[in-house]
Amino acid sequence: MDLVNVDDFETAARERLDPGPYGYYAGGSGDEQTLRANAAAFARWELRPRVLVDVDEVSTATTVLGTELATPLLVAPTAFQRLAHPDGELAMARAAAAAGTVMCLSTLSSVTPAELAAAAPGAPQWFQLYWSRDRGFTQELLAAVVEAGFRALVLTVDFPVAGRRERDIREDFTLPDDLASPNLPGTLARRDFHAALGGIVDARLTWRDLEWLRSTCELPLVLKGVLTAEDTLLAAEHGAAALGARAAMTGRAALWGLAVDGEQGAARVLALLREEIEVGLKLLGARTPAEVTRAHVRPAGPSV
Ligand SMILES: Cc1cc2nc3c(=O)[nH]c(=O)nc-3n(C[C@H](O)[C@H](O)[C@H](O)COP(=O)(O)O)c2cc1C
Repeated sequence: MDLVNVDDFETAARERLDPGPYGYYAGGSGDEQTLRANAAAFARWELRPRVLVDVDEVSTATTVLGTELATPLLVAPTAFQRLAHPDGELAMARAAAAAGTVMCLSTLSSVTPAELAAAAPGAPQWFQLYWSRDRGFTQELLAAVVEAGFRALVLTVDFPVAGRRERDIREDFTLPDDLASPNLPGTLARRDFHAALGGIVDARLTWRDLEWLRSTCELPLVLKGVLTAEDTLLAAEHGAAALGARAAMTGRAALWGLAVDGEQGAARVLALLREEIEVGLKLLGARTPAEVTRAHVRPAGPSV
């Protein structure tokens, strides 16, 4: 079967994966209301294409935190990519490098920062931190991230507690015994590892703790999971580096590609998305992502 779009990759991935890992990748928490709402939110916007703009040559390239990327879509941190394919994060890193974009490594991976860096030498990589209660361990982990040449630190701030993932409970999904978690203090419980992870993340953290993080690690700090304007302002005040959207991240799309055909599959998905962005830019009358402005969108509704 020809895989023409990301949905096709998801269908093919579902056929290849066991129901447990598939449900973990595809599912959300609770009734999955937010999961559905996130997808539906795209339909609330309409595009306002500008015509008769010379779009013979467009470029999807952008600059994020001083790094030039070929596409404004970065690979989001997703946990335990070896559940999708034996080559896991290493294959994803090579696919991201081939696509000219950033791979963001999750704390919940089965490889260390140094191993990821070695898989795609010179490629821009970011590290996503789940900040554990063990501050000494976190400090050592951050030193390893800097030593490996990562370009930014991404702190996930919307995870003070693990959501209740009902699909995982129904599938009785557990991590395989041979899956390492070298970036966590201690070993993660195989059964209900998601809830166990909630116990590792420090739920006492506040904005004030970012000062410690910034003094401990010199890398630009990106906060992942900020959802309100109020918190965006606080983030900027506390030294976060990425105010303003120059790029977005994609998680599951790349995972479906990885599940279907390892590095090649993930690379195909990233290339597909880059081509879609290029067509979108041409139709919008924008030659680069930077030329896309608020004037190119409006809330969906009756024409005016
Ligand atoms: C299976 C899975 C694992 C994830 N693991 C992490 C993680 O370890 N750290 C993190 O910050 N976000 C994690 N996320 C969230 C993703 O980074 C991303 O924000 C989310 O999947 C939405 O993007 P998407 O619709 O492109 O997948 C995970 C998401 C999925 C589906």
